Amino acid sequence: MASTTPLRMHPAKPHIKLAPSILSADFSRMGEAVAEATRAGADYVHVDVMDGRFVPPITFGAQMVAALRRWTPLPLDVHLMVAEPERQIPLFAEAGANILTVHAEACPHLQRVVHQIKELGVKAGVTLNPGTPISAVEEALADVDLVLVMSVNPGYGGQRFIPSSLDKLRRLRGMLDARGLAAELEVDGGVNEATAASVVEAGAQVLVAGSAIFNDRESVAQAVERLRRAMGRSG
Ligand code: DX5
Ligand code: ZN
Repeated sequence: MASTTPLRMHPAKPHIKLAPSILSADFSRMGEAVAEATRAGADYVHVDVMDGRFVPPITFGAQMVAALRRWTPLPLDVHLMVAEPERQIPLFAEAGANILTVHAEACPHLQRVVHQIKELGVKAGVTLNPGTPISAVEEALADVDLVLVMSVNPGYGGQRFIPSSLDKLRRLRGMLDARGLAAELEVDGGVNEATAASVVEAGAQVLVAGSAIFNDRESVAQAVERLRRAMGRSG
C-alpha cells in the first residue's frame, strides 16, 4: 500500500567546485603540487599563464600545461593573462588544457576567440578585470562554458579581495539564470576562509584559491578542508 505520508523533499545543495591555483605553489615542484591538490579533493587545477605584457610577470606557457597533464586526471583550468591569446590557444589545447579562459580586455574579437577555443574541443571561458564592466562579455554569455570574475587585479597571488566583486557576481548570476544559461560562474582572487562564504552566497560555483591553499602554515589537504568548511557557511 502506498504511504500517505508526504515525502519531504530536500533540494540537494549544489556542489561548489574548488580550483587551487598553482601560482602560489613551489615552482620547483609543480607536478607534486598538482598531485597533492588532486589527492586533497580539488575539482579543477587552476593554471595562471602570464606573459609579461598583459600583466607584468611571466609565469609559464603551454609546455608547463603539457608537463602537468601527466600529474592529474582533473580538468586543467587555464587562465590566460596574455595579450593576443588567439596566437597561443592551439598550443594550450594541444598541451591538454580542458578550459581556456581569455580576458575580454585582451580580445577585440572576443566571439571569434571563444569559437576558436570551442572548435579545438576545449571549454571556453571569458573573464573580466575588476575595472571592466559586465557589458564587455554580455553578448558572449550564451557562447561560453565559464565566466570568471576577477576579484583582484590580475598578476599576483595573495592580494586582498575587492568587495565590489560580490555585486558583480550577483549581477552575472542573475543574468545567467534569467537567460537560462549553464555557463559556470567562477571567481578568482583573494578567496580564503574569510571571503569564501560570501562569494558562494553571491552565486559563484567555482572558487579559485592560491595562497589560501598553497602556504607554509598547513598541508594542501588541511587547507582544502578548511576552505570547504568555510564555503559551507554561506546563507
Ligand atoms: C591572479 C591569479 C590568481 C591567483 C589567486 O592574477 O589569476 O589565480 O593565483 O591567488 P590568491 O588566491 O592568493 O588571491
Ligand atoms: Zn587565475
